[in-house]
Amino acid sequence: MYESDIKNAVASFEALVRKQLERNERIKATKEFTDYEKLDTIVIGVCGGDGIGPIITKESERVLRFILKDQVEAGRIAFKTIDGLTIENRIAKMQPIPDDVLAELKQCHVILKGPTTTPQAGDGLPNIESANVAMRKALDLFANVRPVRIPEEGIDWTFFRENTEGAYAVGSEGVNVTDELAMDFVVTTTEGTQRIARLAYEFARKNGKERVSIIQKANVIKTTDGKFLNLCREIGKEYPDIITDEWYIDITTAKLIDPKRRKDFKVFVLPNLYGDIITDEAAEFQGGVGTAGSANNGKRYAMFEAIHGSAPRMVKEGRAQYADPCSMLRASAMLLSHIGFVKESEALDKALDICMADASHKITGREDGCTCSDFGDYVMETLQGILG
Ligand code: IPM
Ligand code: MG
Repeated sequence: MYESDIKNAVASFEALVRKQLERNERIKATKEFTDYEKLDTIVIGVCGGDGIGPIITKESERVLRFILKDQVEAGRIAFKTIDGLTIENRIAKMQPIPDDVLAELKQCHVILKGPTTTPQAGDGLPNIESANVAMRKALDLFANVRPVRIPEEGIDWTFFRENTEGAYAVGSEGVNVTDELAMDFVVTTTEGTQRIARLAYEFARKNGKERVSIIQKANVIKTTDGKFLNLCREIGKEYPDIITDEWYIDITTAKLIDPKRRKDFKVFVLPNLYGDIITDEAAEFQGGVGTAGSANNGKRYAMFEAIHGSAPRMVKEGRAQYADPCSMLRASAMLLSHIGFVKESEALDKALDICMADASHKITGREDGCTCSDFGDYVMETLQGILG
């Protein structure tokens, strides 16, 4: 009785398989990482997004321009404003990233991106894919790097979340086989896993981190997580100086709140969805998602963003000017070090440590707190003192 449903489902699955095989060939073909030192001009795209996005992104651009003033004047750095990544425009064009916006993004080397609203099933908005997820795929930003540091508690974690595969690869293309049966798919490729694992281990080696933990659920999700685990283990053998351990995602979420054990974790490598979930948990220890920046690195492009959403409620309630720019400023610090401005990046992180700890400039998201732009001014003042 289900024959035609089965046929349709198999046809949809076939199309997915073909697309994923093509993607696999594409990612294998890209070998080299961009060498920013060799570029005459590094173009930083600034893409505000929607909700509180434009406000916190503008603030971060202001701080970046302040830090990079000389480089901008010398033509070494150029900023490019990219509009049109708003939920209204994306719905009007019925595209997660409208074509003209994507073309502009591709003219940049690195992108600072504000949060964008993501429609979800049942909220009345059309089923367009998240702009984040679409951008990670379109620019092949395969490594989502999310640091969490709480020095006074000995916490120094860096998450290497695989960013283009796993449950996200075809997350908007699951199949409703019948009214009663829905199926989604999880994707793991050899290249996709090896490249994220390598990045995690290289990072560990360069930064003197003694341990890499491979996080998965290979006891249940045997095929894709099993492949992820095996390939990461293999890469780990190339780094005998680094301890490799393996944890299931469920017990990892528990161990992160175990004060005796959590200090042992340093670098994590993990599939997309687990990385999504656990980096919110991890950021919470540090003061919440508003304090955490995130890098989305690929071979050709890199994009830097907050780890939180666009907070449309703050805008609706007229509180947008009190939005907290810290996550975007942390992301800006990651951008600076990614393109080779390490001293400037460290100075910005240091300024943020000072400003975020100062009760006189507390951001509460409301009138009783500091505004986004006052906080930005304070960061720049502080930077002046650090950079001289
Ligand atoms: C993140 C966000 C995104 C994700 C959402 C907005 C689609 O939660 O960057 O962690 O799930 O990756
Ligand atoms: Mg998330």
